[in-house]
Amino acid sequence: MTGAEQLIERLERERRLSLSEYEALILAGRGETGADLRAAAAARAARVRDENYGNRVFVRGIVEFTNICQNDCYYCGIRRSNQEVARYRLTGDDILRCCEAGYGLGMRTFVLQGGEDGWYDDDRMAAIVRRVKGEFPDCAVTLSLGERSRDSYQRLFDAGADRYLLRHETADRAHYRKLHPASMSWEHRMACLCVLRGIGYAVGLGMMVGSPFQTARDLAEDLKLIETFQPDMCGIGPFIPHRDTPFRDQPAGTLEETLYLLSLIRLLCPDVLLPATTALGTIDPRGREKGVAAGANVVMPNLSPGRVRHQYELYDNKICMDDEPVMCRNCLDLRMRTVGCRIVVDRGDRRRADSAERKQTETEPE
Ligand code: 5AD
Ligand code: FES
Repeated sequence: MTGAEQLIERLERERRLSLSEYEALILAGRGETGADLRAAAAARAARVRDENYGNRVFVRGIVEFTNICQNDCYYCGIRRSNQEVARYRLTGDDILRCCEAGYGLGMRTFVLQGGEDGWYDDDRMAAIVRRVKGEFPDCAVTLSLGERSRDSYQRLFDAGADRYLLRHETADRAHYRKLHPASMSWEHRMACLCVLRGIGYAVGLGMMVGSPFQTARDLAEDLKLIETFQPDMCGIGPFIPHRDTPFRDQPAGTLEETLYLLSLIRLLCPDVLLPATTALGTIDPRGREKGVAAGANVVMPNLSPGRVRHQYELYDNKICMDDEPVMCRNCLDLRMRTVGCRIVVDRGDRRRADSAERKQTETEPE
């Protein structure tokens, strides 16, 4: 075994490495010379995923209910300064109809995602959450609405929301400042994540792979953060430039590095819910199934109405823009089967590896 392979073995066993070791692993996994290491990490990660979840892949239907956003992140296609995009908001009825379609296709988690749009204040948003939970009591509701106040997060939790996705984007403060205008702060983002966890949400964070100015050290810091925060979910995908943003000419993240990071994250958080994202499916026609083969266990098809789909373009060439939900469900199922996995009808809550083990040992006779 090479030194880097030994590190991967130790990562699986101890679920932690030092920052410098993470950095060394990331560097060793790059380029053609890193191919064997990436394959070794993927094989271990797929096994660890199987030990925790079997070959079951959970489905989350995403409803992109508003593309109005007060933020101006330099990478994002729906940033405030982008004048080229027609803005929209969905009503509660629209959202319910999307969920109904998803429910009929076996989806048992709905992700309500939108820009930071003040129109959806706490009263309006809580009403939407209550309606979705009322109609579909056997489903989980995940919110992805960006940064809000503690009180707001609490009210939405009380209205029935189960989970919250808020990508940290980068664990490095200086890198964060290169991706966002001065009005946004890394500290506030991290504070939001801690508040969400304190309230009782299942919390997801995550980052883009290959975002502009990202170094191997930055990615190592991301892994350290994931190791210490132990999120319930972790959304990662390649950065993909959008034509109407300041990062239009920046190179996209690579398939290889994104897959490798998925594997490392699976090894350091065996029971994390890890999506093979749409961005991954965008940079490679088989990106999502490759993501699952590298240790992911979640896919997130789009349930947004066809008429607004093109207006929620965070990056160029996003896939499935013209596909009906039923097509995506069937397509995803076939794709997952090519890598020995299958889509299931399930809320897909996190299965806590540690507590399950504890339970088992507790009930075993001495
Ligand atoms: N490329 C890839 N991912 C992006 N996101 C936003 N813009 C891009 C882009 N150009 C991701 C961010 C955000 C999530 C909703 O989408 O990480 O948190
Ligand atoms: Fe949308 Fe394949 S997942 S068509």
